[in-house]
Amino acid sequence: MDDYLDNIVKLDKDLVNKYSDKMIIDDNLTRQLVSFQANKNRTFHKWFKYKEGFSADLVKYFFQKYNIKGSPVLDPFAGIGTTLFVSSELGLQSVGIELLPSSVEIIKARKSILFNLTNEDIIVLKNWKDDKPWLQSEGQKELVFFRITNGAYPEKTKDKIEKYLYCLDNIKNETVRNILFFALMSVLEVISYTRKDGQYLRWDYRSGRQVGAIPFNKGEIIDFDIAINDKLNEIINDYYLIHNGNLFQTNYSDINILNGSCLNIMPELKESQYKVIMTSPPYCNRYDYTRTYALELGLLELSQVDLNNLRQTMLSCTVENKEKDLLKINKKWFAPLEIANNNLLLNSIIGYLENQKKKKLLNNNGIVRMVKGYFLELACVIYESYRVLQNGGYMFMVNDNVRYAGVSISVDLILSDIANKVGFNVENILILPIGKGNSSQQMGEHGRDELRKCIYVWRK
Ligand SMILES: C[S@@+](CC[C@H](N)C(=O)[O-])C[C@H]1O[C@@H](n2cnc3c(N)ncnc32)[C@H](O)[C@@H]1O
Repeated sequence: MDDYLDNIVKLDKDLVNKYSDKMIIDDNLTRQLVSFQANKNRTFHKWFKYKEGFSADLVKYFFQKYNIKGSPVLDPFAGIGTTLFVSSELGLQSVGIELLPSSVEIIKARKSILFNLTNEDIIVLKNWKDDKPWLQSEGQKELVFFRITNGAYPEKTKDKIEKYLYCLDNIKNETVRNILFFALMSVLEVISYTRKDGQYLRWDYRSGRQVGAIPFNKGEIIDFDIAINDKLNEIINDYYLIHNGNLFQTNYSDINILNGSCLNIMPELKESQYKVIMTSPPYCNRYDYTRTYALELGLLELSQVDLNNLRQTMLSCTVENKEKDLLKINKKWFAPLEIANNNLLLNSIIGYLENQKKKKLLNNNGIVRMVKGYFLELACVIYESYRVLQNGGYMFMVNDNVRYAGVSISVDLILSDIANKVGFNVENILILPIGKGNSSQQMGEHGRDELRKCIYVWRK
């Protein structure tokens, strides 16, 4: 086993040496900026808490730092559209690809607030908020539950959601209906017994569903009427700030959102079209978006089968992901797959993990398949990104390194080396500072055991 580990350490060092002059600790990259945290108080960006998102200011920081002026901008893992909306604000057209239907729905609602909502619609929203028509509703629309969401709401709240949905169906104005639906989607977590926790939904003890030895208390479970009222107030106030307060003083540029897997959609995009790609794929950390966002997906009436299929279509980052037949999607991916398969560090990590699996030392056997699938699939995304970028175009990718079975996986170096072999020039691997360091330092001083969080800067 030591041989495996020694070899991994050696190959890792080789890659560090190869890219050492590119690996810079950037003190501007705080955890707040790189995560959703910095959006928490931001007009327009705070409405739906998407923990996996990055902040609007991060996109601005990069576009400024690298003097990004032209468009279109592409984000193949668009999430709730941070890259797209910041681009739009800066006058740049953008295209996003996103697989999770709930995230696509959020982007569409945000778009319609930006582009379609009128002052008359705002009056309708205000009346809805004040009149609370669901309280008088005679009918209700049955909510969809999955095995993993059964019993997610207090009975009274479930009843109100079903009445709210019934009333929504009677609204003719599509913009208003979509925004009211979005408001509901944005409060599901706070009115439920659950908390989003990356790999799964965590259940409050009051649900009666005890998971784990120590009962979990999520704190206040917000009353439905209050939650909806507050969310609509937030949206309406921001609407005034954006439009009448002329907050951003800009003409927003077009946003086009494509719903599906970037593995299927990117090969359809024309080559050399995009000026810049700014993205953050799921990390290789076992986070399961289809579980975390199961309440929202239930609201969209997905079936259990839809949910399972969705999980398999996502970029492999959970132990349940099966191997995808990538060459069946695109024969041209022979090239990136070969590049990834020949990556010495990746190979030695997979070899080590396979060995651990044989010895029954992995806490889940699916880890090997996940790690391998993660890099092979991303190699294809990187290949497509290179193809669709214009010459001179930048690609920025936010990602974290991970650790399994005691071995740290330098996701930053492996992906950057794959990108380099696909044709990109690796301009920088910008590392988030750890501890208290406050001046730009080279990589050598970075804590050895700390998993690096980075933003890769690649250029075609
Ligand atoms: C880290 S999040 C991106 C968050 C985004 N930067 C934001 O600020 O909202 C990764 C996103 O990739 C999406 N995703 C996962 N697999 C995908 C695939 N095969 N194609 C497109 N999107 C995918 C997930 O649903 C998730 O929204």
